[in-house]
Parts: sequence; C-alpha cells; structure tokens
Amino acid sequence: MDPVKQFQQEKADFISKMRQDEELKKKSLDWMLHADKYKYIYNFTWLGIPIIKFPQDIQALQEVIWKVKPDLIIETGIAHGGSIIFSASMMHLLGNNGKVLAVDIDIRDHNRTLIESSPFYKYITMIQGSSTDQYIINQIKHFAKDYKNIMVCLDSNHTHEHVLRELELYAPLVSNESYIILPDTLIEFLSRRIL
Ligand SMILES: C[S@@+](CC[C@H](N)C(=O)[O-])C[C@H]1O[C@@H](n2cnc3c(N)ncnc32)[C@H](O)[C@@H]1O
Repeated sequence: MDPVKQFQQEKADFISKMRQDEELKKKSLDWMLHADKYKYIYNFTWLGIPIIKFPQDIQALQEVIWKVKPDLIIETGIAHGGSIIFSASMMHLLGNNGKVLAVDIDIRDHNRTLIESSPFYKYITMIQGSSTDQYIINQIKHFAKDYKNIMVCLDSNHTHEHVLRELELYAPLVSNESYIILPDTLIEFLSRRIL
C-alpha cells in the first residue's frame, strides 16, 4: 500500500475507534471541566494577543481553514482579538488576498489598540454591534457580496436563543464546501453561562 495512504488509513481507523471510546470521552470531559475551574482557556495567546480557545480547537481551525482556503472569514465575538488575529495570520499564509470580517457588541478600547497594532491587522475589518442586529447583518451582507469562498465562526453570546438566531442569519452566507463553526460547545456542560 502507498505509505501516504497507509498513514491516512491508520489515522482514520484510530479516530473512528477513539470516537467510540466512552471512557476516553468521559476522561476528556472530566479534564476539561476540571481545568475550567482555573479558566484554562484564557491562558493562551496567538502572536501575542490573548485568544480564548482550547489549543486543540485552534489546531482544528487551522486544518479546516487550510483545507477550505476561504477568501473571507466572518467571525462573531472578538474579545481580546486573538481569534481574529489567528484567522488573519491564516489569510496571510494562504496568500489569497482574503479578509476577516469581525463583529463584537463591545470592542473595548485597549483591545482595539492591541488588535490595530498587529502586523496582521491589514486583513481585518471590525464592526461594533450585536451580531444579530439587522443593521449589522446588512453591513456584513454588503461586505460579503464581493467574496466567493466564505467561512463563518460564531463565537459571541453562547446562549441557545442567540446561537440559533446567528445560525439562521449567517448560514446563508456560507459557501458550498465551506463551514459554519460553533466553538465552545463545552458550554453545554458548564455551570457558568458564558465562556
Ligand atoms: C467567547 S468571547 C470571544 C472569544 C474570541 N473569539 C476568541 O477566541 O478569543 C465572546 C465575545 O462575544 C461578544 N458578544 C457577546 N454578545 C454579543 C452579541 N450579541 N453580538 C456580538 N458580540 C457579542 C462579547 O463582547 C465577547 O467579546
């Protein structure tokens, strides 16, 4: 067998077995919930800017972005800015003149200053307002009409109602063969409301 195919096959087999391993699932969840007591996901930066994500999720996002090669990533939820700098740095690596369009209800001055100081800021446009506000959606649709391969990442308010509304509003913007990504699904298991 071709060694590359063999490697891929072995990987797929282990992933399939891992998926069925209830003990590993329980241990992983226990570990994540335990680590959350120390706000584990707040410990990381991307290119110097705080990113609120599990490193494994950042790795997975890298794989998805490299596979899809979007020319526009729309993100809801900026916080300190690490995730949009991550997406912008991926756009830089893709070299396809892609852009990142990001919306947050509250872009704090110190976060804006930090984001604007990044060498990757040139790939980013930020909008302040609620991701489900019709006025904001209109701006996003207007911006998105010039792009052909659009990916969306919904990382703002993780309540059921808000995410559902975001899915309804943003799903039509996603290109065929691309993805709409919902991070932080661990929220289902957390006692506190918002990550
Ligand atoms: C989980 S943080 C985002 C983390 C960021 N994506 C990262 O990975 O570093 C959630 C952000 O969503 C924003 N937010 C909350 N409600 C929102 C809304 N209705 N519309 C847009 N942003 C909202 C908050 O201000 C906060 O900055």
